[in-house]
Amino acid sequence: MNMPFGLTIFFGSLTLWSGLLIWGLTNKKFTPFIVFGIAFLLFMNVRYLIEGAPAAIAFFIGIYDVLDNIGLQSGQTAAALATCPDNACTVWGSTYELHPSWGTAFHDRFLNGTEFRTNLLYAHLTFNSIVFVLMHIQLWRPGTATNATLHAYLGRVSFACLTIGTVCAIWLAASHGSVDEYGGNLSMYGFWSMSFFVYGCAVMGVLAIRRGDVTSHRIWMIRFAGSMWGAFWIFRVILFVMGPILRDYPSANILLCIWVSAPLGILIAEVVRRKILDPQSNGANQRGDLAYD
Ligand code: HEM
Repeated sequence: MNMPFGLTIFFGSLTLWSGLLIWGLTNKKFTPFIVFGIAFLLFMNVRYLIEGAPAAIAFFIGIYDVLDNIGLQSGQTAAALATCPDNACTVWGSTYELHPSWGTAFHDRFLNGTEFRTNLLYAHLTFNSIVFVLMHIQLWRPGTATNATLHAYLGRVSFACLTIGTVCAIWLAASHGSVDEYGGNLSMYGFWSMSFFVYGCAVMGVLAIRRGDVTSHRIWMIRFAGSMWGAFWIFRVILFVMGPILRDYPSANILLCIWVSAPLGILIAEVVRRKILDPQSNGANQRGDLAYD
């Protein structure tokens, strides 16, 4: 079995990244893990703009093929697995003939869908990727006296990008009612709820700073960052890990990710803030340093 070169890089990076998480949890230092997560996200998303959606989706599905097929005997299948024409929905060639059924539907939607739908996807992932990078810059360089103007400017740019990225996501999800492999209307409402969690945190953060409440602004923007990590990384990690466990239940895995990832991200961000960031920034304030430095 020859693993495609891109997937070798992907799984190697995933292993390294897991190591950075373990190191971070042990030492309570997460900067290497976060920086790697940003670079890794760009590696995953920029390929859509270089290769086009169908090829990038085939790479994406190739990741899930590995675990979703684990333990299956030849000729055996499962309710949440499907085939696709000419096996074109994966980068694995003929190695895996069965794929997660959300994946075959995803590939088909952008191989045979309208140009407008594909452009919505490009706009969605481009603007959300920009926000993902900018929000870390904002958290690392909060709007303290020396940095106030740049922070406010980047904040406005981020919010505008987030608005475009979220509108595109809501629009894409509006057509999911007829996609049974995603879970139909449950997928549509789930993605809308995800948009609500992500955008809602950002709006709360903006409203807080508009009334001059810096403390609430910081809290809501950390929650917002958690929701973005949830919507992107936690979503994809759950989808990967739960694939073989839920493959007998149609749409269960994708629906779980759609409904749970953003609120789970907010919850984790809240715990990280209370247990790690607040004690660190209290210590920094007492020493007269900048928070998050
Ligand atoms: C506001 C929360 C989010 C919602 C509601 C959302 C929704 C969606 C929807 C509906 C699709 C298309 C599925 C289809 O129509 O077949 C999609 C795909 C995608 N989204 Fe999002 N998304 C969100 C957050 C994010 C974030 C934060 C990023 C990146 C920073 C991102 C990047 C992508 C990518 C790259 C794809 C293509 C699938 C993949 O390769 O992973 N999304 N999203």
